[in-house]
Amino acid sequence: MKEQLSNIKANASSELDSLNTLDELESFRVKYLGKKGALTAVMKGMGGLSAEERPIIGQLANEVRAFLENSIEEKKSKIELEAENEKIKNETLDVTMPGKKILAGGKHPLTTVLDDLKNIFIGMGFNIAEGPEVELDYYNFEALNIPKNHPARDTQDTFYINENTVLRTQTSPVQVRVMENQKPPIRIISAGKVYRSDAVDATHSPVFHQIEGLVIDKGITMADLKGTLEVFIQKLYGENTKLRFRPHHFPFTEPSAEVDISCFNCGGEGCRICKGEGWIEILGCGMVHPKVLKNCDIDPDVYSGFAFGIGLERIAMFRYGIEDLRLFFENDTRFLKQF
Ligand code: DAH
Repeated sequence: MKEQLSNIKANASSELDSLNTLDELESFRVKYLGKKGALTAVMKGMGGLSAEERPIIGQLANEVRAFLENSIEEKKSKIELEAENEKIKNETLDVTMPGKKILAGGKHPLTTVLDDLKNIFIGMGFNIAEGPEVELDYYNFEALNIPKNHPARDTQDTFYINENTVLRTQTSPVQVRVMENQKPPIRIISAGKVYRSDAVDATHSPVFHQIEGLVIDKGITMADLKGTLEVFIQKLYGENTKLRFRPHHFPFTEPSAEVDISCFNCGGEGCRICKGEGWIEILGCGMVHPKVLKNCDIDPDVYSGFAFGIGLERIAMFRYGIEDLRLFFENDTRFLKQF
């Protein structure tokens, strides 16, 4: 039995070196320490030993068991460490690998143009005002000197929500809301969506954007309007851009004008963009009608002011050479990616 035990130890020792995996180690454990293992078999045979032999063999068997258990533990740590090292080796970071491209969002071209326009006016001392898109008939029309049955209502293709409520057809109602809440001097712009029941085509959309401007103070004249718009236009299109005021009619301004600018493409000679005219219509404006001031409790004998309204899409179309308005609203990334 002594011999058996020392054989077990010797065999186990030499076998241990050839073990490479945890599976092999487990088979090794079963082979020696399992229920049917070699050492277990020896232990079972101890019942037949004499009383003198039993403690000696018993001690020896325990030593062999301890040896096997320790060896297995050691080997296990070793195999695990090697596996870990192997894994780290294979995981090394290759800093020359091309990186993954992070797709970043960008500003919509209308936002870019709007930000530019806002910054020009903020630089001239204007504040930003806001108003609701769902608007009362009173603000969108009535207070702006467009009573019921006024022909100007027809030209605006209004979406009515009910008799007194509309989707605003213009940003001009913000003028009234500001004047109701603020005493002059007033110097604001207000940008946002407006709605008209238009069929969609390359130059029409049921939703588009306007920027409204309003200045009210003592002694404001048409000269202030012209000077302000000139600074604005020249900041936007360059110092050589000329302005032309054409008489027009808006119910909420008197006098009213439409403003053309000399074509930024051909400089006024006539080209495809200005359709051979040399001029491009860019905005509507005028001196705020005394009736509108009165509607807002501002005394037209003391105060005067001017207002203007600019279509944002037109400006953006000219800037980027976009010929179809629909592109702004379709959210086609092939289009948007270009900005
Ligand atoms: N609200 C006008 C429109 O939608 C544009 C406009 C014209 C605004 C003259 C103004 C203005 O403030 O004074 O056609």
